[in-house]
Amino acid sequence: MSLDPNLPSIEHLRERGRKRVPPFAFEYLDNGCHSNLNMRRNTDELREVRLEPRYVLDYGGAHLETELFGETYAAPFGVAPIGLQGLVWPGACEFLAEAAHAARVPFILSTVGTASIERVAEITEGKAWFQLYHPTEDDLRDKILDRAEAAGVPVLVLLADTPTFGYRPKEIRNGLAIPPRMSLRNIAQMMMRPTWSFSQLARGKPEFATLAPYIPKGLDMSHLGQFMNATFSGRLSADRIAAIRER
Ligand SMILES: Cc1cc2nc3c(=O)[nH]c(=O)nc-3n(C[C@H](O)[C@H](O)[C@H](O)COP(=O)(O)O)c2cc1C
Repeated sequence: MSLDPNLPSIEHLRERGRKRVPPFAFEYLDNGCHSNLNMRRNTDELREVRLEPRYVLDYGGAHLETELFGETYAAPFGVAPIGLQGLVWPGACEFLAEAAHAARVPFILSTVGTASIERVAEITEGKAWFQLYHPTEDDLRDKILDRAEAAGVPVLVLLADTPTFGYRPKEIRNGLAIPPRMSLRNIAQMMMRPTWSFSQLARGKPEFATLAPYIPKGLDMSHLGQFMNATFSGRLSADRIAAIRER
């Protein structure tokens, strides 16, 4: 495995990110919902897991390869669905899809990702999975699933644990949205992060690429927020899951 000696741990990567990404976008990625209680608890619990070493035994032939849904992956984990990646770093959705594909692990595209189902399917040669945030209207769900199917997406991931958009106080205060709120504070933050800003300019502003065809043109930010809230209830039910299975 090639390792950048300047960034040998997640902590080093986080510090690099903090310096290069405007705080309004960095805090979105680095934080959880509400007061981060669950995020901290989950992290603490994982850190409590202890691995018991068994020395001297012969582990020749041990490997991480895993077969799942008829595909052999290099490791039993992959890239979780994250919304708005392109806002955190220009092109991040595409970069992560490429990296996951090269590493032979699954990449899961979020419904609110910043590259389209079709683009991500192309990058990953049809290997990427798609996460569905359930729309309020079943008709929109069917349109999105038709596209996922046409793009050859092999695995559908249903988001079940968030029946509404997560409540992220920092995000509200920071005016995090696509495009970000042009408050003086945010503009100042962007000026302090020129690499991010110039890359955004070069790539064009990030958008909800999969959802773009269903979003009325020319919505301002507050209306885009209202549109997203009204369009995605996120609510699953046994009937809806049955309808998806039926397809
Ligand atoms: C900034 C951020 C955005 C996320 N966006 C999505 C999303 O759009 N769809 C989704 O299914 N999960 C989303 N998640 C949840 C992650 O996919 C993942 O399940 C969660 O972060 C737990 O994994 P972790 O412990 O590795 O962070 C998001 C998480 C974060 C932190």
